[in-house]
Amino acid sequence: MPTPIRRIGLLTGGGDCPGLNAVIRAVTKDALVSGLSVIGFREGFRGLIENIACELSYEDVSGILHTGGTILGSNNKANPSRSIVGKNPDGTLIFVDKTDDCLRHLREHAVDALVVVGGDGTMTIAAEIAGRGVNVIGIPKTIDNDLYGTELTFGFLTAVQIATDAIDRLRTTAESHHRIMVVEVMGRHAGWIALFAGIAGGADVILLPELPFSFDAMVGAIKNRRARGAKSTIVCVSEGARPRNGEQIVARVDPTSPDPIRLGGVGKVVADRLEDLTGIESRFCVLGHVQRGGTPVAADRILGTRFGHHAMTLLKGGARSRMVAMQGIADSGLTDIDITIPAGKQRLVRMGGEGSAEHPLLAAARAVGTTFGV
Ligand code: F6P
Repeated sequence: MPTPIRRIGLLTGGGDCPGLNAVIRAVTKDALVSGLSVIGFREGFRGLIENIACELSYEDVSGILHTGGTILGSNNKANPSRSIVGKNPDGTLIFVDKTDDCLRHLREHAVDALVVVGGDGTMTIAAEIAGRGVNVIGIPKTIDNDLYGTELTFGFLTAVQIATDAIDRLRTTAESHHRIMVVEVMGRHAGWIALFAGIAGGADVILLPELPFSFDAMVGAIKNRRARGAKSTIVCVSEGARPRNGEQIVARVDPTSPDPIRLGGVGKVVADRLEDLTGIESRFCVLGHVQRGGTPVAADRILGTRFGHHAMTLLKGGARSRMVAMQGIADSGLTDIDITIPAGKQRLVRMGGEGSAEHPLLAAARAVGTTFGV
């Protein structure tokens, strides 16, 4: 017989994402209705390390389903086993393992299981804490949709909708002025947002991190479009895309971050170069954190609610150290995997080769005339 769970801890880690409040609401309401109590740790793992926590009531999580951000706050720098406590004289960071503090705080609050909502960094930490004997249930979150082990993360479809709306708007101004318009979207090392929003927005060129691009190929495609009478060209570029034999464009390096490389800037590079090479006036637009803010689309509210409910179902059924996952979306989809599986891995767009078929959306995009800059 599994030990009954009486009290759960809950935190949201990493970058925020639309739908987090839907998850917090679902987990908390499900727990309270089942007679369990919920302790929310604030600002991601910082709340667990420094014991910044509060009990969540039904009222606390009412009326938040449609809101962006996270009522618990988040933090993408706090890491229990690598807490930054200062700098050495040579500028390198000093790390201390504060996992014992976290375990003590969990005991002090009589937490029987911890639910963590986050992306790859959060799941890596979750797996470490699970390795220290804590029952941790992960709920996958990221607008990038790149978490290994699940086909869908909540937040992604909202980001895709925001980027699609932006492409629609940019298209009309590009057409009025007969310009090339380059739209830079997020995604880090995975091109899911660029691929989905590019297809939904009818982008003429989509540039993915997984497929280094060639300016010559793009220029050829743009000239062909002009010859056919097209007034404008929309290029949807993922922030992590880079030219063949070229470097990734980095906006800034932050050594205190677990993701020290801050991406951004490839949109300007592509627009400037295309203007030089084609003679066609070009503009760029970086969507940035607009893609992560504000109200989640209905699909993400539903997914967040399902993920939260599934996490609670797992806990009440005696599961230990699992991550909720969506696999085989055409069927019911909802399942769970060992919490250690996603740690340190990413789910990229499959480009084919080496025994794996390419992702079917690539063929669909090509069929409607979209090119990938190769
Ligand atoms: O991982 C989600 C994400 O939004 C990426 O797409 C982006 O590169 C990164 O986070 C930005 O993070 P930050 O909020 O630290 O600038």
